[in-house]
Amino acid sequence: MSEQLEGEIDTVMIEQRLFPPTEQFSQQARIKSLAEYQTLYDEARRDPTKFWETQAREHLHWFTPFSETLQWEAPFVKWFVGGKTNASYNCLDAHIAAGRGDRTAIIWEGEPGDERKLTYRQLHSEVCRFANVLKSLGVQTGDVVSIYMPMTPELAIAMLACARLGAVHSVIFAGFSAEAIADRNHDAGAKIQLTSDGLYRRGKVLSLKETVDQALAKSPSVKKCIVLRRVGNDVSMQPGRDFWWHELMEQASDDCPAVPLDSETPLFILYTSGSTGKPKGIRHTTAGYNLYARRTFEWVFDHREDDIYWCTADCGWITGHSYVVYGPMTAGATVLMYEGAPNFPAEDRFWDLIEKYRVTILYTAPTAIRAFIKWGDHHVDKHDLSSLRLLGSVGEGINPEAWMWYHTKIGGGRCPIVDTWWQTETGGIMMSPLPGAIATKPGSCTKPLPGVSPRIVDDNGHDVKRGRGGMLCIDYPWPGMLRGIWGDDQRYRDQYWTKVPGMYLTGDNARQDSDDYYWIMGRIDDVINVSGHRLSTIEVESALVSHPAVAEAAVVGKPDEIKGQAITAFVTLRVEGEVEELRQALKMHVRKEIGALAQPDDIRFTSALPKTRSGKIMRRLLRDIAAGKEQVGDTTTLEDYTVLARLRDDED
Ligand code: PRX
Repeated sequence: MSEQLEGEIDTVMIEQRLFPPTEQFSQQARIKSLAEYQTLYDEARRDPTKFWETQAREHLHWFTPFSETLQWEAPFVKWFVGGKTNASYNCLDAHIAAGRGDRTAIIWEGEPGDERKLTYRQLHSEVCRFANVLKSLGVQTGDVVSIYMPMTPELAIAMLACARLGAVHSVIFAGFSAEAIADRNHDAGAKIQLTSDGLYRRGKVLSLKETVDQALAKSPSVKKCIVLRRVGNDVSMQPGRDFWWHELMEQASDDCPAVPLDSETPLFILYTSGSTGKPKGIRHTTAGYNLYARRTFEWVFDHREDDIYWCTADCGWITGHSYVVYGPMTAGATVLMYEGAPNFPAEDRFWDLIEKYRVTILYTAPTAIRAFIKWGDHHVDKHDLSSLRLLGSVGEGINPEAWMWYHTKIGGGRCPIVDTWWQTETGGIMMSPLPGAIATKPGSCTKPLPGVSPRIVDDNGHDVKRGRGGMLCIDYPWPGMLRGIWGDDQRYRDQYWTKVPGMYLTGDNARQDSDDYYWIMGRIDDVINVSGHRLSTIEVESALVSHPAVAEAAVVGKPDEIKGQAITAFVTLRVEGEVEELRQALKMHVRKEIGALAQPDDIRFTSALPKTRSGKIMRRLLRDIAAGKEQVGDTTTLEDYTVLARLRDDED
């Protein structure tokens, strides 16, 4: 079938451009050619157990070697059974033992411009001390530690200190609301809270402690709170509950051996949106996750000794877990961490950082790239970006225009772009070009990594014909996969393993082109992607209807130049009121219930929501209205979509 025909059926985007890596890049790469990739991929496919067994023996430290590589009783998996390891040891002690303790682990820059550097030895010492602090407050293996902190070295230190003890961290992005923290703390049964007095954002100070105080009032399981002094604002400290980080650290010893932990000891919980109103606590465990983060980091970012690597993600998201902390640090990389906004004090902050620290690898998100394009090339032109050799993208599909700009303007035409497809649930990158081996096509995540076995299937679970779109599934376990949803095995089964029996359902649609390249085509469920972050439309709807003025709400994504998708909410009211006032009140309400990232851009009031005869909200129609494809008059007052609905009552 020709590419043209495939395109007609499945996608309006037909991208023919092919960008092979330069010879110079390939020659120096870990994986140098398509043939080499194919050999590795085939080896893993023939005998995945053997493949991962070798990887695990060679790339993790074992206090006790494992006796069995894989136990797979679908949908529950155990990797490296009987073995004992420790992710904090692999990230720190292993480098010191190998005589590499003086390598720089973290180069950090705060938003106001303050700088710090920590070698692996120094980081080890901080982590040990903080692990002792946690112990002194009663934290033990298996306890859940809730972390709500800015992007400071202490955030990574806190994560690694938990890992050292076998305590389970639950990092909550510092933009979430008090309600969201309390929900997550409650679901996880968190025992202790870590936070800071505040954080810097675009030159302003935001108080985190205040938000945490509100959250802790509704988090009965949390008995203690450690507060990092970051901005020096006034905070209230509750005696007996709240402690200053620096005061506890003063007394702490830096002798704290890593606890040998069973491979399947939970390492962290990370909450993410699903297709229902309640966020899911995705559960990852120690050995499999750690190995997967390390190997995918090394393969995809082609890591070399002299690299200065910068992943711009916050540790509040999975990208920060896997590719700021666990992947690069297990690999012994030098990681740049930046605390603040990309446009403070000016729109060239990223380029300034790259020039200043001679960054060689940049991993960022399409939403950021689109913002840079909008801000203008002159910000880029001021800086020398010649240190860059590789670029990465994550969070959503990268549109070809943004890809080309990233390639030419940032990469100077010489840097491969790795468009990495993966999810919170997968633990690490699943599909991506290997930069020395696989020619890229703008907008495609190209091929699966070794050990990853994707399938594209129809509603009956049958493989679709090449070129057709279908549900993207993974038909064999991999070490980084989620082990479940915290406290809810049934939801884990229902969500990921039921619709297509025997396969992990990713929730994304995809197609494969005539070169076997994969193209992600968006979600199959009611999850939208705002600035690379997953939000469930139902979660936002639940927040809206919890406001006393709201009778019913339907939330859809609408195309947005910068964010990819923005939120439009259609709302019917219980009470009459001044429209503009209500609109503001509802926006603030969602902010309070979830956080700023879920605040609708657009709220439209309607006398009734368009529904099918069977009573289902016609979301497709609402999406068309939100995108401006259906003209429906004045949007400042009450609208009535039921007429349109009657015209389109065929929608399921
Ligand atoms: O829809 C896919 C999209 O983001 C979802 C995963 O979101 P999250 O768990 O928050 O993790 C984001 C960081 C890994 C996926 O189901 N997505 C992520 N990366 C890509 C992508 N869509 C297309 N191309 C990508 N490279």
